[in-house]
Amino acid sequence: MAMRQKYVVAALVLAACTGKAVSIATPVDELVSSTGVVVSAHHLASDAGAAVLAKGGSAVDAAVATAFALAVTYPAAGNIGGGGFMVIRQADGTATTIDYREKAPLRSTPTMYLDATGAIAASATDSGWRAPGVPGTVRGLAMAHEKFGKLAWADVVMPAVQLAEEGFALSESLAGELNGALTSILASFPASVATYGKPGGGAWVAGDTLRLPQLGRALRAIATGGPEVFYTGWIADSLAAQMRAHRGLISRADLAAYQAVEREPVRGTFNGYELISMGPPSSGGVVMMLTLNQLEALGLVGADGSADGSADGSADRSDARTLHLRIEVARRAYLDRARWIGDPDFSEIPLARLLSKEYARELAAGIDTAQASSSAELGKDILTPMAESPQTTHFSVVDAEGNAVSNTYTLESGYGSGVVVAGFLLNNEMGDFSKKSGYTNTGWAIGTPANLIAPGKRMLSSMSPVIVTKGGALRLVTGSPGGRTIPNTVLNVVLGVTAFGEGVRAAVDAPRIHHQWMPDTASFESGAATPAVLAALRAMGHQIKEVTARSQGDAHSILFDATTRTARAANDRRSPDSGARAPKP
Ligand code: GLY
Repeated sequence: MAMRQKYVVAALVLAACTGKAVSIATPVDELVSSTGVVVSAHHLASDAGAAVLAKGGSAVDAAVATAFALAVTYPAAGNIGGGGFMVIRQADGTATTIDYREKAPLRSTPTMYLDATGAIAASATDSGWRAPGVPGTVRGLAMAHEKFGKLAWADVVMPAVQLAEEGFALSESLAGELNGALTSILASFPASVATYGKPGGGAWVAGDTLRLPQLGRALRAIATGGPEVFYTGWIADSLAAQMRAHRGLISRADLAAYQAVEREPVRGTFNGYELISMGPPSSGGVVMMLTLNQLEALGLVGADGSADGSADGSADRSDARTLHLRIEVARRAYLDRARWIGDPDFSEIPLARLLSKEYARELAAGIDTAQASSSAELGKDILTPMAESPQTTHFSVVDAEGNAVSNTYTLESGYGSGVVVAGFLLNNEMGDFSKKSGYTNTGWAIGTPANLIAPGKRMLSSMSPVIVTKGGALRLVTGSPGGRTIPNTVLNVVLGVTAFGEGVRAAVDAPRIHHQWMPDTASFESGAATPAVLAALRAMGHQIKEVTARSQGDAHSILFDATTRTARAANDRRSPDSGARAPKP
């Protein structure tokens, strides 16, 4: 196990003075707790979730509180104007998912993002009033709370209201990010500049207080009036009026019609573990299971596991064989993503076959263990001879009873469309649709039927919130942002725990790799392979792009030990303001 990282966990045990089994592991920042834990991209949002756990709230209560708080403290992706997916597993073993993905407005058309020459006008989905899908976050959080919440709705929304109204101190990182957004994505929209600009002008610096009174007003209305105020009340009126004024598409009818959907999870097994994840309209669960099933068929996992087809017991994160196989299986999984996956309410998706071990064995049989294959050759039936943004965010929650929530939600790009209405940012999620029918190229464009724009349809996502169990007991909660890189990022963590024998900190920290069929290039975070292994992979025919920064995804994760009933949380240090928090006694 060349890359297995060894960490010394020097526990600062608070239990000694509190009587509670809560400790902070140093120097690696694993937070170990038997009273529940929340880990997210902003430590104040994790605080909000942990405070709800301390009040006796469930994992879902804490997740809802964290999601609303991130809308304040993590404006790039935390939101009430976007959408996402929540995977929920109760301690009794039952599991479900909530799909609160945005929808295409009723006035949208399949050609709405083509210019007069028929070319894709990417700028129309990058920002502005025609970029947003109908937001789903408030309905989704309300549905989760109604089904699984223990505390009153107002109790889980109010922490976010307080953060917005009272303000919070900016970190250096967030101050810099806001200054950048104010001169780019937000700059064309006066209400957005007024919302996020420094009062009195000038650049934000670390320690400044960001107050968001308009967002606080909207959140307070949601706290007291419930989701209806957003979808049929004054917030809906305000959003629709501004859309009309700026020739945007979302109407009051769109908002009134929006519903979140409870869907069956996508399930699979790998090396004796069970995975519970998100099905279409996210491609995440399917891509992950297609990948893992092929790896299992190829014998990646060791004889110590109980995998079908496991062979030699030598799973090693960073050797040439493992990396070659990971690129090859990802290539095939992402090709099937492009071929088949979209909104299940609009497209026939052969889900059972895509998730079957038999199909994975057929795919794996076509893989040469010594030679790279060609994405163009494999996908020539859909190829006709732009980038997804990393600004989504994931958080994980486990409560004292072992109920778990894995939630990923998004505005699509950082700060979404850049448009603020009623104090909150609207997404630019329409960019996740295929924009030109039949046009699939060797770059990023995909034009297969499953994900073409239609009124009321949900756009394809890659978000991959996942809960992993072993022998029926909770083991891992993880997920990540990162557009099309998401399933590979999440797999990097899942494989760390299920195949490479890593703990949660090592699995989160480990350098990541990505291949998505097209463009036919694998990207490697620095340290993912030695120069010798990179040379071996190139000799096999792989195109490898080395990424010097560790910047693929942001996978805040929790490992659960069902025997001791302790959760061990690792924030992803790629995200500077992130943090794990346990309920304070
Ligand atoms: N907007 C990123 C995704 O849904 O995959």
